[in-house]
Amino acid sequence: MERIASFLPAPEPIPLPAPVWLLQTLLFVTFVLHIIPMNMTLGGLVILARSEMSGRASEPMRRWITGYLPVTVAFTVTTGVAPLLFLQVLYGQLFFPAAVIIAWAWFAVIIALLLGYYGIYAYALASDKLGRWKGWVIIGSTVLFLYVAFAFNNVITLMSTPFRWWELWQERNPSVHFNLNIWEPTLFPRFGHFVLGAVAVAGLIAALYGAFLHRKGEEAGKELVKNGVPWFVGATVLNYFVGAVFLFTHEQAVWRTFIGGDMLATVLLWGGVVLSVIALVFAVIGRRVERPFNFVVIATVLTLLSIVAMAGVKFMVRSLLIARHAPLFNLKDVPVQPQWGIIALFVVLLLAGLWTVAWMLLQLQRAYAKKGQTA
Ligand code: HEM
Repeated sequence: MERIASFLPAPEPIPLPAPVWLLQTLLFVTFVLHIIPMNMTLGGLVILARSEMSGRASEPMRRWITGYLPVTVAFTVTTGVAPLLFLQVLYGQLFFPAAVIIAWAWFAVIIALLLGYYGIYAYALASDKLGRWKGWVIIGSTVLFLYVAFAFNNVITLMSTPFRWWELWQERNPSVHFNLNIWEPTLFPRFGHFVLGAVAVAGLIAALYGAFLHRKGEEAGKELVKNGVPWFVGATVLNYFVGAVFLFTHEQAVWRTFIGGDMLATVLLWGGVVLSVIALVFAVIGRRVERPFNFVVIATVLTLLSIVAMAGVKFMVRSLLIARHAPLFNLKDVPVQPQWGIIALFVVLLLAGLWTVAWMLLQLQRAYAKKGQTA
């Protein structure tokens, strides 16, 4: 049954500073930029926590993930700010009420991020001092960051189902206001899908780094490839199942769009799946052959393309849900008054920022290489 929100907060009186298509594009691009370090962080944490729990950590894998985590957390947070701004500008009418309604659950993201980040630093830089608590510290950080991802899933699902707002605010949990959106059937499959995707990407990037090292003649590289590929393959294969559950827990009108209802939607979803299958094949071959470099690089490029396609699917699902459940909200009706000077300045600063980041990464890589670490 289609459930429609009959009320929404009034739109911002200030017109949008750029055309809707441009803001949407920037939201899309910056979200893809966010998801890559986020996957390395979240997936790397899950892999580390798992090896601490089993006590069977591969040393090169542990050193590689521990080495990059402090850097990728910083990137996750800073690349998260940009899509957050575009999301608020475009969908403020839906996003702010959703964040306000989950209330403490949203505020707790900041606390979880801070504590989780401390834990990562302690594990990475003062591992000896932590002694037997070392494993628990990284497991704690993993749980906290999983919570951050879950909180985002809550707010993003709630913003496109405004008919639940009143229900959650008034009826479900009126005294505590820690209102997770757990009555949303897509919530847990969505969370599972993102976490498995993160583990897969972290495994693949470990294999990629290993392939680079191996090409330079370092033996540890081969072990990274050997350990990283199974994480990529295992998590991706599981995700075919979880992803299917995620799709079909959406209402029929939405999932039908992706199985032939709309050409672009169908091509994006199944194109993304096919790319990931081919990536799996290349990764598996890369693990078996003497010279894995080319195979792992191809698997990585295909996976990146698959991520872009899946991000497109995510954006389409949002539009479909909003059109169904919040017809009062229509981006076509929002007043726009482009400020081209400021947009040009933004583009220049964005490019300069990206260039600076690339330069910083290069310096970091050189510093690690000098210290002779497998970082
Ligand atoms: C390590 C911490 C983080 C993790 C694990 C994480 C994880 C995620 C996940 C799983 C999603 C997808 C949510 C969904 O579609 O249901 C997401 C989206 C998003 N994240 Fe992050 N995130 C982190 C930090 C941040 C921070 C600090 C910010 C902002 C400052 C941020 C901004 C965003 C935004 C704006 C989106 C939604 C984009 C959209 O739907 O268009 N994230 N994040």
